[in-house]
Amino acid sequence: MLSEFLLTDIARLSQQHKLPLHRQLYEALRRAILDGKLAAGERVPSSRELTQDLGLSRNTVVAALNQLSVEGYLVSRTGSGTFVNESVPKPAKRHHAAQEKQGAVLSRRGQQLSSTFCATQLEIQPFTPGIADFSAFPVALWQRLQNKHWRMTYPEMLDYSYSGGYAPLRRAVADYLRVFRSVPLEVDQVIITSGTQQSLELCAQLLADHSDTVWLEDPAYWGAVKAFMATGLQAHPIAVDEHGMAPGPKHEAAPPRLIYVTPSHQYPTGAVMSLARRHQLLALAQKHSAWILEDDYDSEFRFSGPPIASLAGLDTDGRVLYLGSFSKVLYPGLKLGYLVVPKGLVTPFKQAHYDLNRPGQMPLQAALAEFIEMGHFASALRRARQSYAERRRCLLAALHPCLGPHAQITGAEQGLHLCLRLPTELDDKALAHRLGALGLTVRALSAYCLQRTDARGLVIGYGYAPLAEIARYGPVLAQVIQTELAKLGT
Ligand SMILES: Cc1ncc(COP(=O)(O)O)c(C=O)c1O
Repeated sequence: MLSEFLLTDIARLSQQHKLPLHRQLYEALRRAILDGKLAAGERVPSSRELTQDLGLSRNTVVAALNQLSVEGYLVSRTGSGTFVNESVPKPAKRHHAAQEKQGAVLSRRGQQLSSTFCATQLEIQPFTPGIADFSAFPVALWQRLQNKHWRMTYPEMLDYSYSGGYAPLRRAVADYLRVFRSVPLEVDQVIITSGTQQSLELCAQLLADHSDTVWLEDPAYWGAVKAFMATGLQAHPIAVDEHGMAPGPKHEAAPPRLIYVTPSHQYPTGAVMSLARRHQLLALAQKHSAWILEDDYDSEFRFSGPPIASLAGLDTDGRVLYLGSFSKVLYPGLKLGYLVVPKGLVTPFKQAHYDLNRPGQMPLQAALAEFIEMGHFASALRRARQSYAERRRCLLAALHPCLGPHAQITGAEQGLHLCLRLPTELDDKALAHRLGALGLTVRALSAYCLQRTDARGLVIGYGYAPLAEIARYGPVLAQVIQTELAKLGT
């Protein structure tokens, strides 16, 4: 019986993979043990018996049995033979576990993380929000820089990166932030991370304890929601109005440990946080000894007037951590971003970042530092800004016929997306779905809402689609929206 099973399994394995024979026998025996054909505690045929029954060489059989012994599947008892280890789990249990539904296998947190909104639609198509046109990235130049830094590389560059990342890159980031984002900082405060997502996780892990409260904008950036969910924080949504997050006295009943905001261009509504709100938020952070996490994800692309100064620039109490990313200006797969921490947090953040994430990629960081120092970053930014401005203008013109008292655009002064606000009675998810069926990927505003039920609209990106596509599909988008509005009699 057993030899039949082993021979069938070996035949199957030899068809599927080019494994040496002793490895095929090892796999077949291991499966026999795990499936219960050879039960825990049962005697295993001797190498001589197996050699005869299977028609294999003694060496092949011995090699397979030895490997199984080394891995703990088999135990030898002197004088009585070889047995399946008693501690191998019973197959009934394993099968049961394997057959259990995913929900039951995952932790409660795992179920939450894997089930909630938005992340399903990440295809890049015309109007996908949040996506830059990385087809414009100067690949040949980048390749030259990378090659150069790989040629120049010395052993330390291949190690994990200590002290917050490659020093010239941290210097370049600090210079950029001082000038363009009015962030007063010293180089030491800059920590290079693998992007905003990692910066958020680090802040949540180091500044808050499990079940501490985080104030979040409602609607919110789902990446941040997930980062806080994963660290076990209690989300306290605060509705956003035209001046950004609007905390009132009732919210202070749940005092925050962290406050996550996108003040320059609220994601996704596009609201710019007013100066009064900024001061209110800083005062609240001071009052509750909370930390503000400022996600400045798209300030590089401001189309009218000078960039809005950062919230970090107003902070006199060392309460704001500033988060930036190269995902939008360069390309998302680069996975590089930066976190600016108040001086008192520099050492613990660097140490914990090292222990938790073992950061690396120094040659890549060196290439990026040179890319910035040589002015390529500034010119890529200039080109991108100009190109996005044209795309934005084209989309605004296409949407113009839809606009009126029941359909208004917010947040189009900056970034790579705008928000078309629609009446509360309109089902924006159904509308987004309908557009999706036409190959036009937009997101429903309500899909970003955590608690509120009054926000309806479409979040429409113009970063990814080339101008010609916006010109072609913009009117289609507008037509579908108009038809939907007409059904409401508005
Ligand atoms: C609000 C917001 N923050 C940050 C990011 C960038 O995150 P990361 O650096 O993890 O790519 C995005 C990207 O879509 C975003 O929309």
